Amino acid sequence: MKLNSANINVMMKACRNAAKHLIRDFGEIEKLQVSVKGPGDFVTASDKKVEKILIYELSKARPNYSILSEEIGEIKNDEEFKWIIDPIDGTANFLHGIPHFCISIGLEKNNEIINGIVFDPIKDEIFAAEKGNGSYLNNQRLRVSGRSNLKDSIIFTGGPKHGSKNTDLIQEEYIKFSSKVYLPIRKMGSAALDLAYVAAGRCDGFWQRNLNYWDIAAGIILVKEAGGFITDFKGEDDYIKNKNILASNSKIGPEMIELLK
Ligand code: IPD
Ligand code: CA
Ligand code: CA
Repeated sequence: MKLNSANINVMMKACRNAAKHLIRDFGEIEKLQVSVKGPGDFVTASDKKVEKILIYELSKARPNYSILSEEIGEIKNDEEFKWIIDPIDGTANFLHGIPHFCISIGLEKNNEIINGIVFDPIKDEIFAAEKGNGSYLNNQRLRVSGRSNLKDSIIFTGGPKHGSKNTDLIQEEYIKFSSKVYLPIRKMGSAALDLAYVAAGRCDGFWQRNLNYWDIAAGIILVKEAGGFITDFKGEDDYIKNKNILASNSKIGPEMIELLK
């Protein structure tokens, strides 16, 4: 990894420690699938444990930074720096024994994301980015894909969750997109990894409604630093507030926005 800022090192260390537990717990889940009760409670406990380890490690190294984390919410401290944590993104996959989930940590400085890590513990892939210094997967510099037509592209999306708002709209958008692309749209089940895959050029575009800040904080800087494009569905910058996110290599972004109109 060419990134070696002190904060990236702190984030890596926290992720590596938490990942040990996550890998062990994932092994247990396979066994629990066959039990009558299923792995639900175990997964909730694991999520909380991973969050606790991450917060312990990050706070030990940076006691003054504020925190926003999915399960415990906000810890207010220093106004300048804030960690944005999703301890497990892709919980449904984790619960079902599907090896596609991650830890996601973003770091804000004065309300702007300056660092991000998306760590897939099962594939041992660490996607990391730093403002002005690029995005990396392990030691390799990342660039978004070069495809310029939606019809040749692989596109990811996610949702709707059962009972969530805009369910019909989400299905409609999915059908609209599916008719324009050569391959079916993928729903991989982890928005943070979806964004990391856009950064890595594995997928050409991603859109999703109703995402929370912890789902996307690290992914945003990964995509930007890999030369990608991030907006809301109208092509504007309000995606954190309105929770609609569209990410792509810069070439197919305008075509995606047109489709979502
Ligand atoms: C979820 C995942 C999923 C997305 C959901 C998110 P979680 O996060 O990112 O891909 O479709 O909207 O809530 O619950 O696994 O942390
Ligand atoms: Ca999430
Ligand atoms: Ca989560």
